[in-house]
Amino acid sequence: MTARPARSPVPPAVDVVADSLRAELEAARLRRGSAAGPVRVLDVGGGSGAWAVPLAAQGCDVTVVDSSANALAVLRSRARDAGVGERVRALQADVDALAEVTDGVHADLVLGHGLLEYVDDPSSAVRSLAGATAPGGLVSLLVANRYAAVLARVVSGRVGEARRMLADPAGRWGAADQLLRRMDTAEVTALVEQEPALTLERVQGHRVLADLVPEHAPDAGAPADLAALEELASTTPPLRDLASRVHVLARRGADRPTS
Ligand SMILES: C[S@@+](CC[C@H](N)C(=O)[O-])C[C@H]1O[C@@H](n2cnc3c(N)ncnc32)[C@H](O)[C@@H]1O
Repeated sequence: MTARPARSPVPPAVDVVADSLRAELEAARLRRGSAAGPVRVLDVGGGSGAWAVPLAAQGCDVTVVDSSANALAVLRSRARDAGVGERVRALQADVDALAEVTDGVHADLVLGHGLLEYVDDPSSAVRSLAGATAPGGLVSLLVANRYAAVLARVVSGRVGEARRMLADPAGRWGAADQLLRRMDTAEVTALVEQEPALTLERVQGHRVLADLVPEHAPDAGAPADLAALEELASTTPPLRDLASRVHVLARRGADRPTS
């Protein structure tokens, strides 16, 4: 009797945002040249380092600016545990004070992931991120998607919350909602288009379909198919616009000298 082939493992997480950032790091290395040192990343609202630590592990010098001292304490210990403590700098400040705390140093890649949901003025926050970006550098915005949040509430039986969220202009379910807003693709895109220093480069959905694949489905071990499907869906409306988070990349124009 021939042995049955072993089942393929559950596909690894597919992450179009991480893939885009990896591609940008390569581009930034070429742009800067090897003599210029590591790629400089500024992660605003970087929290405990979900993005910052992996980027430091890829060789970047990362500065995290966050208003929460607790989050930064977790970040420091996480960076130490990952062996990248030397490459991660933690600064406690509000996004509005970015120019002061970064001492006029401009980064090749500036992240605002999970930030615009909490700030008082998203337009002003995007302006601060753009101002902290080196000429030719990239701003990456990742924002909770109001439509995905509505669907998630319905699937978990919280239909009243879903209705309030959909009806509310800020995409909140009520006064106790921790987020000040959830956005859609058009809103995040418009924020970038209002900022003269930035040129919109890419709009995609983060985690459109990958989370829906059951772990033990018959062909769940088809990572290549799943990766290709997720990549395609991430830029194909209307699927793109239902992703858990809206991801927008925007390029800073080369209009001032590098610091
Ligand atoms: C949802 S967490 C996102 C963490 C991380 N960027 C990620 O994507 O996993 C939001 C973070 O933004 C920080 N934050 C909220 N408002 C801020 C502000 N006005 N300026 C700087 N950081 C802020 C919070 O302290 C928190 O750590």
